[in-house]
Amino acid sequence: MPGPKKTTGSDAPMAKRPKSPVAGARSSTAEKQARRAPRPSRRHAGGAQLGRPRTGVVVTGGASGIGRATCLALAEVGRPVAVWDRDLPGARRTARRCADDFGVATVAVGIDVAVSDSFSSAVARSLAALDSIGGLVHGAGVDGAMPVTMLDEDSWDAVLDVNLRAAALLTRALHPSLVAAGDGSAIVYISSIEGFFGHSYLPAYAASKAGLLGLTRSAAHTLGADGIRVNAVCPGAVDTPMLAPLLAFPGAREGLEGRTPLGRLANPEDIAKSIRFLLCDEAAFINGASLIVDGGMTAISGI
Ligand SMILES: NC(=O)c1ccc[n+]([C@@H]2O[C@H](COP(=O)([O-])OP(=O)(O)OC[C@H]3O[C@@H](n4cnc5c(N)ncnc54)[C@H](O)[C@@H]3O)[C@@H](O)[C@H]2O)c1
Repeated sequence: MPGPKKTTGSDAPMAKRPKSPVAGARSSTAEKQARRAPRPSRRHAGGAQLGRPRTGVVVTGGASGIGRATCLALAEVGRPVAVWDRDLPGARRTARRCADDFGVATVAVGIDVAVSDSFSSAVARSLAALDSIGGLVHGAGVDGAMPVTMLDEDSWDAVLDVNLRAAALLTRALHPSLVAAGDGSAIVYISSIEGFFGHSYLPAYAASKAGLLGLTRSAAHTLGADGIRVNAVCPGAVDTPMLAPLLAFPGAREGLEGRTPLGRLANPEDIAKSIRFLLCDEAAFINGASLIVDGGMTAISGI
């Protein structure tokens, strides 16, 4: 995947680039100053703080949903992204959008994160494309809905290997790169409010997401010595392909909205902005934390 090269993106941008001034229209002083600003600061909206550090970020699950929105949110503030996903065409689409809309270096890597043998070559490819890796977002995830009374070993492993085991082994694989990238390196695992609540048909999922919270605290302890922060985000109900089968049930969407004080489901960008915050210098003293991003759902009852 070429880096800053321009190609044609097919779908709508997450954040619009600043519009060119319309000829003849009146401009405020602020608008004139903004127009005179150097090109990079106009191009990467969101401000310098959100954009620091400027190191590259590996995002697993970047082909879809929250992972994809995270890639775009990071590119928006000028951070190069390595889009890792088992869906290679989807990863390529995300990478192309990041490059086209925000001019950052990108690479798309087709990978099954349950297979850790492939990590070292994926890291090498990503480093070659991005120059540095100062961030990891583990967003690849599966729900594997099945009650505990029906579970077999393979079904359990299929969920735990992707959601939890991969997070730990990716952290180990990327540790040298995160150290080499220097100040401000950080990791965000995408957990879930299911890490706090139990659902009868999601035992493996809930266990994996609760496990990520333990991993967050433990890794924060170890990596803190290197100046690397490790945090988790815990989304509530997010409107992505993962939730689509549930939302297909009549009344499901309305039920979730009714249990959310803000009265709506999250969109992927709501979560992506929280992840971007945890990866930037604005969050420089946040370490080992689990940030709930659910519109208030757990504050009143849980999913
Ligand atoms: N959607 C929600 O309501 C919700 C709520 C809380 C947490 N989450 C978590 O957010 C994360 C992103 O989920 P989403 O809702 O965007 O779902 P999604 O299905 O849109 O995206 C998940 C991505 O992970 C990739 N993936 C799955 N298994 C993989 C593997 N073995 N190797 C590489 N890539 C793999 C998929 O190809 C897909 O692109 C997941 O960890 C999920 O558990 C989602």
